[in-house]
Amino acid sequence: MDRGADFLLSGTTALKTEDLKDQMQLVTIGKTDLATALQTPKRLSNYCAQLEAGDILFFPQTPIDIPGDDLAFLLGHQQVGGAYHKNIAYRPLEDRITGFDAQDSTGAKRLRGIMRRYSDDVIGFLRGFLGPYGARWKVDYASYRPEEEQGRDLSLRKRNDLLHTDAFPTRPTNGDRILRFFNNINPQKTRSWITTETFDALVEKMRTGKLNGGRVPLPSSMTSSAAKRALASLGLGTLAPSLRRSPYDEFMMRFHNFLKENSEFQKTCPKQHWEFPPGSSWMVYTDMVSHAVLSGQFALEQTLIVSREVMVIPEKSPYGVLSRLAISQN
Ligand SMILES: [Fe+2]
Repeated sequence: MDRGADFLLSGTTALKTEDLKDQMQLVTIGKTDLATALQTPKRLSNYCAQLEAGDILFFPQTPIDIPGDDLAFLLGHQQVGGAYHKNIAYRPLEDRITGFDAQDSTGAKRLRGIMRRYSDDVIGFLRGFLGPYGARWKVDYASYRPEEEQGRDLSLRKRNDLLHTDAFPTRPTNGDRILRFFNNINPQKTRSWITTETFDALVEKMRTGKLNGGRVPLPSSMTSSAAKRALASLGLGTLAPSLRRSPYDEFMMRFHNFLKENSEFQKTCPKQHWEFPPGSSWMVYTDMVSHAVLSGQFALEQTLIVSREVMVIPEKSPYGVLSRLAISQN
């Protein structure tokens, strides 16, 4: 396994990494590494820990087999209603796609079949690769991202090119983790990302007034003694079962918005720059790793919501971090 990412750092993009205390790593997993790891539970467990710590797992050759016909179809299709649907989404549990031309029923059927197969293949791969999690996850949406990301006309909170940690406005996780697996299927162009510090470091900076633009208050119910007890035994989601979003999800959503709306932070924060080449895959906990997509067109993605109960290093997770802060405030 090669933990060095230097070869992926752009020579032309300004890098300012000296301020990053806990710099995240790009963990490269070649074909041989992968074959060995799949036979070695300890290595798989290490990969889980690296993901949870905020590293990006990078597969120079994607482990997902996407047939040439499927690729040709995908590369020939655009989405519709881009202002409303940010991507073409596939909902595996309903076997349904959104963001595609409903008039084109033949195309829609074909696309649904392609997305179904992609989703099944990624999940099949992750069942083995993330074996230590024992498939304790919910299968969330898959997406196809056919738009060029550079210069997209999206509202500020929807913009992909501003650094943020992920939170879903309508799909609360109650402290479970957002894990995303990507494929760059563009035959020529890399997909270009920047990242800055991980969630734990950003929250600490915000809390101590070191991030510009004010603060997002910690969820109030996390700072009460009742919450303290509940956190220890039950979990955040059970604190307010009647609410659409748990206090955890409310905080994560507001933190996502806070980062995107904070222009000084966007401008001045230390950045790492990553280029994901055609034919590669990568995976990351996007609720932990603050990320932005600067450019790239034609990517596939599958999201899993992984149970926080199976984390290898639970104290590092956003839920663990917020719980600790809430308790220390009491
Ligand atoms: Fe994101």
